[in-house]
Amino acid sequence: MSAGWLLAILVAPHVTLTPGWRMVALFCHLTCLVVGFGAVLTVDWFSLRWLLRREPLGTVLTAARGAHLLIWLGLVGLLASGAALGPDTSSGLVWVKLLAVLAVGINGLFLGRVRDRLAAVDGQPTWSALLAGVAAATVSQVGWWTATLIGFWNANS
Ligand code: HEM
Repeated sequence: MSAGWLLAILVAPHVTLTPGWRMVALFCHLTCLVVGFGAVLTVDWFSLRWLLRREPLGTVLTAARGAHLLIWLGLVGLLASGAALGPDTSSGLVWVKLLAVLAVGINGLFLGRVRDRLAAVDGQPTWSALLAGVAAATVSQVGWWTATLIGFWNANS
């Protein structure tokens, strides 16, 4: 994950796109945002419904397992298309966004472990597993929203 992130940042300054290809890259970037963040929001929505006792834990875990591939495809696509768009790495705000993306990726690996721990539980899950899940879901939401808001701000200011 970290290697892919570093590669995207190192490659970015050497990519120059024509306005037409830049539009294609931006379209890919936004499509990957819809796919990745959309899948994350779906899983988190099911998690919230479970916290409100509207869904069984099994449903959340099935949704998380099903959305796994979409989330990672979205994130990898965002890294590749983002590198092609050539982020301005002299801007502090861009670095905040890039670090948020790295945090989302590393946290995603941790979330996978938490999901496996919860899936292995027979009966009521432990508080430590639940707290780890809530903490990781919060980090994920903060990271995705930070990257989205900064991306939007940079593109429109
Ligand atoms: C979680 C991951 C990411 C999210 C949610 C995200 C989100 C966004 C959003 C919402 C935009 C604005 C598009 C528009 O309004 O037209 C954007 C633009 C952009 N993103 Fe990302 N992005 C992510 C990852 C990355 C990465 C990893 C890079 C670089 C390696 C990157 C580089 C860029 C660039 C260069 C732009 C264009 C900004 C400009 O026109 O000045 N993004 N991103």
